[in-house]
Amino acid sequence: MSDFPYQLTDQIAVVTGAAQGLGLSIAEQLARNDALVYMADLQEEKVNRVADDLRQQGLEVKPAVLDVTNSQSVNSLFQRIADTHGHLDILVNNAGIGQKVLSITDLDDQEWDRVLRVTLTGTFYGCRAAGLIMERQESGSIVNISSINGQNPAALVAAYNAAKEGVISLTRTMALEMAAYGVRVNAVCPGPVYTDFNKSNMAQRGKTLDLTEEEMIERIRTAIPLGRWGEAVDIARSVAFLCSPAASWITGEVLRVSGGMEGVAAAPPKRERH
Ligand SMILES: NC(=O)c1ccc[n+]([C@@H]2O[C@H](COP(=O)([O-])OP(=O)(O)OC[C@H]3O[C@@H](n4cnc5c(N)ncnc54)[C@H](O)[C@@H]3O)[C@@H](O)[C@H]2O)c1
Repeated sequence: MSDFPYQLTDQIAVVTGAAQGLGLSIAEQLARNDALVYMADLQEEKVNRVADDLRQQGLEVKPAVLDVTNSQSVNSLFQRIADTHGHLDILVNNAGIGQKVLSITDLDDQEWDRVLRVTLTGTFYGCRAAGLIMERQESGSIVNISSINGQNPAALVAAYNAAKEGVISLTRTMALEMAAYGVRVNAVCPGPVYTDFNKSNMAQRGKTLDLTEEEMIERIRTAIPLGRWGEAVDIARSVAFLCSPAASWITGEVLRVSGGMEGVAAAPPKRERH
């Protein structure tokens, strides 16, 4: 079997949060399966640089500066892409942010709003803008990146858990609404992959449990049934599959890609009150 078996020839794709981590790997994987991929991210310089690297490897990718929390910008980027190519076939709503590791009783309004705004509302803006285009063309595939936390919440990241569970609900609702138009909407729930996002999360969580970062990494590893952390490409391949004709009868699905890990409860000990 080819390493890139998903036949996305002539497909126009957008991946949000594509400057690094999972989004970068997803963009590369779609492009290696022959899609033309718009790599949308807040980080202008970085997204330009990584898109350049991929182009030098012969892949068809284009960088785009986008803040997913700005609905006008999301609408106009997606419409511009659809106008340029006559269609928009794939959207991967990957942009999402972690939260400060804090109990609900310590979580302030700003942190709650910041996480929900990017991780859930940004995904909604993307779904709505692409959905309008895909409904009209009566084809398309959307994959939303949730998390194992969206199925099984971990302690100390309530806003993130709620946002990711919201992404699953949005996915399943939209799958029903778009089915009559032949547009498929699915979610992927990644387990732990050691990206910048996860590094910062591990370091903070380790402190609450009095463990070093290395001890945290090992503790997580041993809790993963397949015995290793994920690689970004593990997630990217599952996304390429869901976007492809090989998944043409799959919609409203929530696919956990986690080496078998179902969640990290991580109940912390009592903390000192000052
Ligand atoms: N890494 C993991 O272990 C893991 C596990 C489960 C789920 N996820 C989810 O996967 C997705 C990607 O995670 P990652 O680990 O690659 O994170 P990351 O922090 O390495 O990358 C996230 C990217 O999103 C971009 N971004 C952030 N806010 C944005 C905005 N408002 N508009 C546009 N782009 C924005 C950032 O610039 C960055 O390039 C996230 O939704 C995350 O919640 C990650």
